[in-house]
Amino acid sequence: MVNYKDLGLVNTKDMFAKAVKGGYAVPAFNFNNMEQLQAIIMAAAETKSPVILQVSKGARNYANQTLLRYMAEGAVEYAKELGWAKPQICLHLDHGDSFELCKSCVDMGFSSVMIDGSSLPYDENVALTKKVCEYAHQHDVTVEGELGVLAGVEDEVQAEESHYTKPEEVIDFTSKTGVDSLAISIGTSHGAYKFKPEQCTRDPKTGKLVPPPLAFDVLAEIEKKLPGFPIVLHGSSSVPQDEVDTINKFGGKLPDAVGIPEEQLRKAAKSAVCKINIDSDSRLAMTAAIRQTFAEKPGEFDPRKYLGPARDNMKKMYMHKIINVLGSNGKAE
Ligand code: G3H
Ligand code: 13P
Ligand code: ZN
Repeated sequence: MVNYKDLGLVNTKDMFAKAVKGGYAVPAFNFNNMEQLQAIIMAAAETKSPVILQVSKGARNYANQTLLRYMAEGAVEYAKELGWAKPQICLHLDHGDSFELCKSCVDMGFSSVMIDGSSLPYDENVALTKKVCEYAHQHDVTVEGELGVLAGVEDEVQAEESHYTKPEEVIDFTSKTGVDSLAISIGTSHGAYKFKPEQCTRDPKTGKLVPPPLAFDVLAEIEKKLPGFPIVLHGSSSVPQDEVDTINKFGGKLPDAVGIPEEQLRKAAKSAVCKINIDSDSRLAMTAAIRQTFAEKPGEFDPRKYLGPARDNMKKMYMHKIINVLGSNGKAE
């Protein structure tokens, strides 16, 4: 049994309490490899932003669960080396799909877990989430649950259609389960193709897709039912069009990739939304820089020469999110 506190990690309790009060959101960035982790920590340390390092089931399979945990432990020390005296770093399981997976993460040093029972019938979601909370809370590990289904396709997350969270269920769900935060569905979705072209309009000048707005009325209803309760938004990448253009210019093929406009995320961050999940934008920033380097320097074969620019590009993106979208800079001095 590894206690996350011995690793210098924190759970989400204080982070979220401060974020709800302060009208900003804590970034939750997924990582699978060293360059992503370095970029996240550099950005968080430089901006003194609390940060949630997210590990999906797919990331655990790809990078090895033990290695990822030691990387997170190393990240705390690295942050201190960068001059961040009191790093506020949470290690979180993203989209846990079973009690056993959540328990294994609690037992090996995660400070927070998500149990995603959103595709289960309501009563089964309640029962599973409650079971995870009972175990995690014994170890002071915080738990995120989910109500409603996001559209989009990821390796481990699939839902053809999205179903908005039903505001009438949120009080019953949170009180029966004891969750510390609630992920909701208000129109965001996973991946780089968040909306079908027929759901969007087109900007006549650029020809780019303009996505439909998020369901802020549903968010407002939920806030009314659960005043001050931490709300989480998944699927919140913006799919920056300059990165998509770079990828396409240098041999990639991402036609009509579209994300959530940043002004909508800014608005959400000022509300009860206190955790915003971003993975795809990091994948795009990394891929764009690597494709560009390969195209412009075809003789290069030292991985540091293309992973270095990829890391720089991801760091720039993380800093931008922290400072200009979520507003979490300076909140973990
Ligand atoms: O929401 C899912 C995350 O983007 C993780 O994706 O399962 O491909 O690691 P993944
Ligand atoms: P994106 O695919 O929009 O980055 O969402 C990531 C996410 O929700 C991770 O749980
Ligand atoms: Zn997600």
